[in-house]
Amino acid sequence: MLNSSQFDRFRGKRVLITGGLGFIGSTLARRLAELGSRVLLVDSLIPEYGGNQFNIDGLEDRVRVNISDVRDEHSFRYLVQGQDYLFNLAGQTSHLDSMHDPFADLEINCRAQLSILEACRQHNPAVRIVFAGTRQVYGRPEYLPVDEKHLLRPVDVNGVNKMAGEWFHILYHNVYGIWACALRLGNTYGPRMRIKDARQTFLGIWIRLLLEGKPFEIWEGHQLRDFTFVDDAVDAFLLAALDQHAGGSVFNVGGDGPISLKRVGEMLVETAGEGKYIECAFPPERQRIDIGDYYADDRAIRSSLGWEPRTRLKEGLARTIAFYRQHLDRYV
Ligand SMILES: NC(=O)c1ccc[n+]([C@@H]2O[C@H](COP(=O)([O-])OP(=O)(O)OC[C@H]3O[C@@H](n4cnc5c(N)ncnc54)[C@H](O)[C@@H]3O)[C@@H](O)[C@H]2O)c1
Repeated sequence: MLNSSQFDRFRGKRVLITGGLGFIGSTLARRLAELGSRVLLVDSLIPEYGGNQFNIDGLEDRVRVNISDVRDEHSFRYLVQGQDYLFNLAGQTSHLDSMHDPFADLEINCRAQLSILEACRQHNPAVRIVFAGTRQVYGRPEYLPVDEKHLLRPVDVNGVNKMAGEWFHILYHNVYGIWACALRLGNTYGPRMRIKDARQTFLGIWIRLLLEGKPFEIWEGHQLRDFTFVDDAVDAFLLAALDQHAGGSVFNVGGDGPISLKRVGEMLVETAGEGKYIECAFPPERQRIDIGDYYADDRAIRSSLGWEPRTRLKEGLARTIAFYRQHLDRYV
């Protein structure tokens, strides 16, 4: 976590977070409430997604919550008005669900993004927007680490729609001067992520099964990934929003270096002091949309915004396990 004094500019500011009851959105909301922002969270709480009322436990008196859907253009025309910052995190995050129900993903991750931007253009063109993009837009990497110049060739419907959502933001910045920037997040993890199933991240279901005393599955396990602890991801959102020069830019957000999934599984068991995993083959449906090895070249965000990850994976896993040991019943 960075020194909060550099974020003093958020004090008293009006901030709208879409997807604000979700994993990253609620963590961002906590930080902004501490910084003295006037925070409004918008979330649809669709049960299959990551939104959870408990994510704002203890914060209820310091933020306002509006349960609405980003697909509702009428609500957004009103909700964006008067906001200084918009952190746009609402999204359908499951890659597999995007293949089973491509139109829901299209409506949320693509069409609704355009209508949010239209609402801003018409009713609040001075707002500053940071969009939560994803490394999924790159598809299977052609080289590693993956930098922002890598070809965009998504392997699933979710990646195509998130790519469009991201580029609508950059387009509105370039054409209409609505200040917007996008972060391409990788595997983000930490307290308040969805652990009920693997919809948000495989790490979620691993942690659930581990704490329930059941073995979790590692598919193949040699794949390389990097992981970002949620507080570090929140730093990236805050830094991006404050940097005038970040407007129109897209930044990869990485972690503390590549690690194989098998090693992550081992580290999880070591850190928890309990649990077992089974190594097995990829289910064919997953294999078809798997991206293989990925880790980010995130030198651009480090040099432009001064961002750096503060939390090592082992420490982040320990904090995550401690959280779910205490609150498992609220997340399963
Ligand atoms: N967690 C990661 O590893 C990761 C990686 C890459 C990108 N991202 C992006 O970051 C953003 C936040 O992800 P997260 O991990 O916090 O997931 P999350 O599912 O916890 O948060 C997304 C939130 O959006 C809400 N939402 C979904 N559809 C909505 C709709 N139609 N209207 C209003 N709200 C809606 C959900 O209820 C949920 O609370 C997403 O846009 C996601 O694509 C996350």
